[in-house]
Amino acid sequence: MDFGLKGKRALVCGASAGLGAAVAATLAAEGVELVINGRDYDRLVASATKIEKATGTKVGLAVGDVSIVADRVKIINATREHVREGVLDILVANSGGPPPGPFLEHSGDAWSQAGKLLLDSAVSLTRAFLPDMIEQKWGRLIYLTSVAVLQPMDELILSNAYRAGVTGFCKTVSNTYAKHGITANCVCPGYTATERLASLVKKRAEAAGVTPREAAQVLAADVPVGRVGKPEELAATVAFLASETAGYITGASIPVDGGLHRGLL
Ligand SMILES: NC(=O)c1ccc[n+]([C@@H]2O[C@H](COP(=O)([O-])OP(=O)(O)OC[C@H]3O[C@@H](n4cnc5c(N)ncnc54)[C@H](OP(=O)(O)O)[C@@H]3O)[C@@H](O)[C@H]2O)c1
Repeated sequence: MDFGLKGKRALVCGASAGLGAAVAATLAAEGVELVINGRDYDRLVASATKIEKATGTKVGLAVGDVSIVADRVKIINATREHVREGVLDILVANSGGPPPGPFLEHSGDAWSQAGKLLLDSAVSLTRAFLPDMIEQKWGRLIYLTSVAVLQPMDELILSNAYRAGVTGFCKTVSNTYAKHGITANCVCPGYTATERLASLVKKRAEAAGVTPREAAQVLAADVPVGRVGKPEELAATVAFLASETAGYITGASIPVDGGLHRGLL
């Protein structure tokens, strides 16, 4: 299927590893003019080099921490410098996740930091790039959230709380700007094989007194598909949502979770 993405301009945040890196690689393979973000310059260069070798596409870098206001300004400026005419067609808002743990283990600062990381970053990046999308009457806003939005996970209270906020934000933006040719959607990963998942599995293993391999088996057994997801599986959904073909899907939260959440919708 031709997604019709050739020549579109995208920023993918949190793209030096994991889900963001897979999304970036998939979009580049579809001919998207790409800028990727992450905090660590060397990791970001390694990710860009890998994508460039695989696709022959030059990848722009926007180094910085999406939770920090001053870094976001740098990320936005670097993105505009790299893409044609300084205008973005596709924003993929993503970052690392907040730490797990029960409510009373998180300080006020941890709550504030999680808000900056998940909600403030999504709001601020949208505010930066949406006006140009309105002007050109075409845009795709895609927020990577979590299956925790559909079925909150007890060990992930920071994620549960702020990703619900991102979902409400996305839904409202989608309603307000749909008539300008802009769609806004959330993609909700379930357990997907990345560094983040490996560290969550390690914590679960320590808490349960089992090996990480055993903890991973327990986790996979909870998924109807019977395994954890591959980052490319989530990336394919993001590429579809970014496409012209997906223009009638907006305001949705789409799980890519192997059936993990048990709700009807
Ligand atoms: N994997 C899963 O099973 C799963 C399930 C549900 C939800 N999620 C959520 O999906 C998101 C991506 O997950 P993942 O598994 O791909 O995570 P990951 O393996 O930890 O990768 C995170 C990526 O984001 C970058 N990053 C982290 N913090 C950042 C920040 N503040 N600013 C800019 N870049 C940042 C990291 O690079 P640097 O460290 O170099 O910045 C890395 O490239 C997370 O929010 C996670 O909670 C994941």
